[in-house]
Amino acid sequence: MNILVTGGAGYIGSVVVEETINAGHRTIVYDNLVKGHREMVDPSAIFVEGDLLDRPFLEKTFVEHDIEAVIHMAAYSLVGESVADPSKYYMNNVVAGISLLDAMRDSGVSKIVFSSTAAVYGEPEKQPIEELDRTAPTNPYGDTKLAFEHALKGYERAYGIRFVSLRYFNAAGASERCGELHDPETHLIPIVLQAAAGSREAVEIYGDDYPTHDGTCVRDYIHVIDLARAHVKAISMLDEKSGIFNLGCGGEGYSVKEVIEAAEKITGKKIPTRISDRRPGDPAVLIASSERIRSELGWIPEYQDLSLIIESAWKWMQRKGTAANTGN
Ligand code: UFG
Repeated sequence: MNILVTGGAGYIGSVVVEETINAGHRTIVYDNLVKGHREMVDPSAIFVEGDLLDRPFLEKTFVEHDIEAVIHMAAYSLVGESVADPSKYYMNNVVAGISLLDAMRDSGVSKIVFSSTAAVYGEPEKQPIEELDRTAPTNPYGDTKLAFEHALKGYERAYGIRFVSLRYFNAAGASERCGELHDPETHLIPIVLQAAAGSREAVEIYGDDYPTHDGTCVRDYIHVIDLARAHVKAISMLDEKSGIFNLGCGGEGYSVKEVIEAAEKITGKKIPTRISDRRPGDPAVLIASSERIRSELGWIPEYQDLSLIIESAWKWMQRKGTAANTGN
């Protein structure tokens, strides 16, 4: 199938592109390179530099490459930034997304897989979180992702565009070629590994007084390759129906302290830490129920073990020499 991947030059997008190519799809990356890295795009993919708000160019790209389905990953994703600058988030995550949907409708492209987030649930009422649980985002980032999910439902009803929305939990780890390199970096695992590599003085633990077994927040970490493979399965499902799925491994999850301990074992380095205040908006525990995606899509994570996730990220950092606390 000819698949257009928006945001395919980003961290998760570039691994999704590798997996669509492995599955035999002809893959066209559409990215404006504001956040993405051109060199992360698999050489077997076709790269198109473009903006989602440029409707004529987007529609020309659909025609030129005979696009049959879209994986929509282009978005901003920093919770704190979304609170400080909601306009930026609504413009990119909602307005540009609607431009994409309109271009799909007008070009007769009727299948889309969307990168959503656990942030749509806000402060969850129970664990593990199920897809029918209350959605009540606590920041504009989550609001924009939920708004786009609502748009997808309306576009399906009115224009027959089928969708799968994947609500990511904590993506981490790396493939051979692609890993996590944000600037600034806010995610726990790369930060911990930077501290192990000595390019960051210490890891700040954002609160150790949460109601969890060791007082630090618990998250459901999912290897980026497992996450990417779910997109390939979602594409196949679109022949039959639409759906919304949590994308996490389930189980018990791992606390911030457990992540640091696992990273110390893998890297063989002592990782300095200091306890600081809670980060606003961090729920104590975020664990997915992954029953639905397992039963309906037949998705099974291969790299669920935290050490495999951290090890892949560590190896990638060392190969790339990206242990420095900078990068573009
Ligand atoms: N943490 C620290 N120190 C750090 C960085 C993170 O203690 O330097 C903690 C956080 O407080 C949190 C955990 O490590 O408890 C994981 O934090 P991340 O920033 O790596 O990930 P989040 O769980 O905050 O974010 C994820 C996704 C977001 C999504 C959010 C939903 O990356 O896209 O879940 O709440 F919005």
